[in-house]
Amino acid sequence: MRSKIAGIGYYVPKNVFSNQDLTKYMDTSDEWIQERTGIKERRYADRTGETTTTMGVEASAIAIERAGITPQDIDFIVFATLSPDYYFPGCGVLLQRAMKMKEIGALDVRNQCSGFVYALSVADQFIRSGMYKNILVVGSEKHSFGLDYSTRGRNISVIFGDGAGAVVLQPTEEDNRGILSTHLHSDGESAEILAMYNPGTHANYWQETAYADFKDAEIGEMFMSHEMIDNAQNFPFMDGQAVFKKAVVKFPEVVVEALAANNLKPSDIGVLIPHQANLRISQFVQQKLGLREDQVYNNIQKYGNTTAASIPIALCEAWEEGKIKDGDLVCLAAFGSGFTWASALLRW
Ligand SMILES: CC(C)(COP(=O)(O)OP(=O)(O)OC[C@H]1O[C@@H](n2cnc3c(N)ncnc32)[C@H](O)[C@@H]1OP(=O)(O)O)[C@@H](O)C(=O)NCCC(=O)NCCS
Repeated sequence: MRSKIAGIGYYVPKNVFSNQDLTKYMDTSDEWIQERTGIKERRYADRTGETTTTMGVEASAIAIERAGITPQDIDFIVFATLSPDYYFPGCGVLLQRAMKMKEIGALDVRNQCSGFVYALSVADQFIRSGMYKNILVVGSEKHSFGLDYSTRGRNISVIFGDGAGAVVLQPTEEDNRGILSTHLHSDGESAEILAMYNPGTHANYWQETAYADFKDAEIGEMFMSHEMIDNAQNFPFMDGQAVFKKAVVKFPEVVVEALAANNLKPSDIGVLIPHQANLRISQFVQQKLGLREDQVYNNIQKYGNTTAASIPIALCEAWEEGKIKDGDLVCLAAFGSGFTWASALLRW
């Protein structure tokens, strides 16, 4: 038994934020952003009217309807995000509540840009084992609430956008259809290269450079202090070039791994959906694998990098645009913070 995508949906907020709009807040330019990342604009969630969970609900409602079932038929939720509504509990239970689902299991996945492929892999195993029949897999992010929009944070804040995507996985016994394999990897050696350190319980344990002073902190003052906020240490950190260098190696590697596991080659790929990290990374991967332009789907130009949501949004859009047809070989590939990277190969 395999699992197949029985329904897919995505949601992006209405509010379009162009590169030009960002110049009101920081020293940047449309030219710089487009040249380095390919991004023209991104969507930002309504500040108080939308959350990571509510966007996940919008995408899930479409996926569930397209699968021909109702929210009450879902028997497990896997929710991937790095920008949850609450530090805890996770978004899975908030979605379960919002969609009035049964008292089913809800699992949150914290694997950043690889989150959706990790979540899909977990769901795939539960279907293959026969444990569940209708699993909802969601990737959703509200980045616009947690980035540094001053010039200090421009290397990160110009890249990210908000949105959500979801799929319903069901078992299938059809030959040659559904998820053929998934491949998951991690290397924690560079965990601090793309990370948000605070709030956290690390107390500088992993850091050679002290980012915040915990020495004299009283009990109860160590999780989030005024000093951290005053010094903007509550924002993510990224060494962009180090991420870029690793990404262009690991993306092709994990695609080749997926193809080899199924005795397939790059020319067999109908559509590659790379995590939308940076258009330059996608183009590099395309070139390295010797793929034609029409074999790789990119929409980062419109949405920026939406982390766990980027693959399901792109997959859904590509399908809605008729670029993925029944029987096509689709490859999903992701790389991000951790570092973690992953791929999934499926026959649509
Ligand atoms: C982030 C990224 C676009 C930056 O491009 P880069 O060519 O590496 O740029 P650098 O960080 O070396 O910075 C070059 C200069 O541009 C400046 N700069 C950074 N962000 C800028 C912005 N938004 N606008 C204008 N200038 C900017 C830097 O301050 C630096 O200036 P300096 O030379 O005067 O010091 C690129 O490294 C990247 O895409 N990396 C991968 C990131 C990624 O995919 N992250 C998600 C992982 S899933």
